[in-house]
Amino acid sequence: MRTAADYTFHHAAPEADDFYQEVIDGLSQSSRFIPPKYFYDHAGSRLFESICEQPEYYPTRIETVLLQQYASEIAALAGDGCYVIEPGSGSCEKVRFLLDALRPAVYVPLDISCTHLKKAAACIANDFPWLDVHAVCTDITAELSLPFIPEKTRSMMFYPGSSIGNFDPQDAVDFLACLAKVTGSGGDLLIGVDLKKDKGILDAAYNDASGVTAAFNLNLLQRINRELVGDFDMEAFAHHAFYNSARGRIEMHLISDRKQTVRVDGHTFDFNAGDSIHTESSYKYTIYEFQALARQAGFSPCKVWTDSKDLFSLHYLRAV
Ligand code: TRP
Repeated sequence: MRTAADYTFHHAAPEADDFYQEVIDGLSQSSRFIPPKYFYDHAGSRLFESICEQPEYYPTRIETVLLQQYASEIAALAGDGCYVIEPGSGSCEKVRFLLDALRPAVYVPLDISCTHLKKAAACIANDFPWLDVHAVCTDITAELSLPFIPEKTRSMMFYPGSSIGNFDPQDAVDFLACLAKVTGSGGDLLIGVDLKKDKGILDAAYNDASGVTAAFNLNLLQRINRELVGDFDMEAFAHHAFYNSARGRIEMHLISDRKQTVRVDGHTFDFNAGDSIHTESSYKYTIYEFQALARQAGFSPCKVWTDSKDLFSLHYLRAV
């Protein structure tokens, strides 16, 4: 048997150049946008964990209860000895609630933040000595290739946290279709999806009173300053998040509070007071809307669990 904390590591992280190019391109457009995957440097990953602990941010707590409550039903659907593949695994906390019931052969966490991933994979390997852990540092929004997974292996993709809401709907379909390709026909997907609800609850969840979500959003500018020789003034931008009911999504922006010019490695960007950089969306779905989206990606619904207040949903789907 392998020693505790031992795991296999595969490195396929995006190049630093991608960050540079996406920031320059994103800031050069009239509607400025920076892809949310760049939130997750070391500081960003830690801030994200803290968001999940804020009292206003209900999704993590509710999803965790659902996973604990329905672990044996999930295990019955997945069967023993499957591969569990978790795109965007972060600190690998949620899968812990499934492992004892599920008894998978292999756990494959995939994450863009390498240091964070290595630490999380080592903890899982240490706490579940019977489990084979293959960690892959990769950008899950680029092409997903996991050549070490043997063909015809039964696998269950685990995609919690309503991260699917951070894609625009068509991109969400394309992303799920990629997951279906990796699991192959008959492969499973266990996915957490935040539900449409009262705007007040949604607005509060993305504007926690302690300002952690604001710090998480602003850390993106700090990261640009650090890694791309930028001179963003942190005091001159503010976090702004709100539920856009017409589009069924939370929008997160960084708003310039004055007229200013920002430099990133020799490029200059002019902002007026009120100008925005859109940093993330978080789409909310009804159960029916999400099942329709999943069907377009080649998954058919098996089962869905929700909490008593219908705040959050956990879907079990199978690739056709
Ligand atoms: N995917 C989750 C959501 O949209 C978590 C998340 C991603 C998030 N980025 C965030 C939560 C930024 C708060 C702020 O809710």
